[in-house]
Amino acid sequence: PIAAQLSNHRKQRRYLMRSPRDFFKPLALGAPQPLADIPVRPSRMIHFFDPSNPKMAEKAPSIASRVDILLGNMEDAVAIDNKEAAREGFIRIARENDFGDTQLWTRINSLDSPWFLDDIHRIVTEVGDKIDVIMLPKIQGAWDIHYADQLLAQLEARAGIQRPILLHCILETALGVANVESIANASPRIQGMSLGPADLAASRRMKTTRIGGGHPGYLVRDDPDADNPEAPRTAHQQDLWHYTIGRMVDACVSVGALPFYGPFGAIDDPTGCEDQFRNAFLMGCVGAWSLHPSQIDIAKTVFSPPADEVLWARRVLEALPDGSGAVMVDGKMQDDASWKQCKVMVDLAKLIADSDPALKKAYGF
Ligand code: GLV
Ligand code: MG
Repeated sequence: PIAAQLSNHRKQRRYLMRSPRDFFKPLALGAPQPLADIPVRPSRMIHFFDPSNPKMAEKAPSIASRVDILLGNMEDAVAIDNKEAAREGFIRIARENDFGDTQLWTRINSLDSPWFLDDIHRIVTEVGDKIDVIMLPKIQGAWDIHYADQLLAQLEARAGIQRPILLHCILETALGVANVESIANASPRIQGMSLGPADLAASRRMKTTRIGGGHPGYLVRDDPDADNPEAPRTAHQQDLWHYTIGRMVDACVSVGALPFYGPFGAIDDPTGCEDQFRNAFLMGCVGAWSLHPSQIDIAKTVFSPPADEVLWARRVLEALPDGSGAVMVDGKMQDDASWKQCKVMVDLAKLIADSDPALKKAYGF
C-alpha cells in the first residue's frame, strides 16, 4: 500500500508539473521524439494564401519560390462555406508539390471550432510529412497546447511521421497574453508565436478597428510653450503593440522559440507596414505575415539585417577576436556584451546570405 500511495503521489505531482525527464519523450507510442532545439531557418515572412481560392492555389508554387514560409490558411478570412474546400485544397497542394527550402505551414481552425478535429486529423495523417509547423489561433493557455500536443503525437504515430510537427501560437486573446510565458513553456513543440492584433484588439476591447499598426489617437503631446500657450503642440504617435510584442519576445526567446509580428491589414499603406515591421525587427522578431504579394518584399527588406549594420558588426567581431576585453572602434567602446550583439547581427546575415546571393555580396561574405 505504501508503494501504491507513493506512486499516486508521484502521479499527482506530475499532474501539476511534468518531470523534466519526460519532457523529451514522445507523448504517444510510435510518435517521433520531440526536438531539443527549434530549427532556425530564414523566416522573414509567413505568406498567407487561401487554398479554397482556385487562383491563389494555382499561384502557390510560384509564390513559394519568393517566400521563406508559405502558409495555407483555414481559419479567419476563409468563409464558412469554403472551410472544407480550403482543407482539401491545402492537402492537394501539399501532396503535389515539393517547395524545396520554403517551409510549408498551415493555420488550422481554433480548438473550439467545428473544423479543428478534421483539420488536424486529415492534414497530419495525409500530408503530415510535408508540413513543418501548424499555426494554432486563439490560444488561451498551456492547457490548449497540452491538448494539441498529445493529439498531434497520436496522429503522428498513426501516420508514421518521423520528424515532429511544430506548433506556432497566435497571441490574440487577453487571456493568452496573460498566460504567454506558460504557453511558451507548455511543450517542446512550441516553434514560436505571432501577434494577432485584430483578434487581440477585439478581445481586449481596444477601440481600434485597424488590423495592426498604430492609431492617430494613441499619442503623447509636447508640453505647451510657456511663452506662447496657444502655439500648436507637436504630438508623437505611440505604438499600440509595444507592450504585447515585448512580452511575446521575452516569452519566446526564453524558451528558444521565435517571435513574429502578425498581420498588417492596410495593404494600401506600405510605409506604415514597413515601420511596424521594423519596430518588431528591432525588438527581436524574426518575421511578419504577408497578406498580399506586395508585403513580401517589405518583409524581406525589413527582416534582412541592413548591410551597413552587418559590415559594422563584422568589424567589431574582428576587433575582439575571442569576444572578450574592451576596445574602441571608431570612438565607440566595445566589450563582451556588444560583441554578442554584433554576433546576433552577423549570424542572421549568414543565415540569410545562404539563400540570397545579392545580400551575400552586400554583407561581404
Ligand atoms: C490575426 O489572426 C489577428 O487576429 O490579428
Ligand atoms: Mg486572428
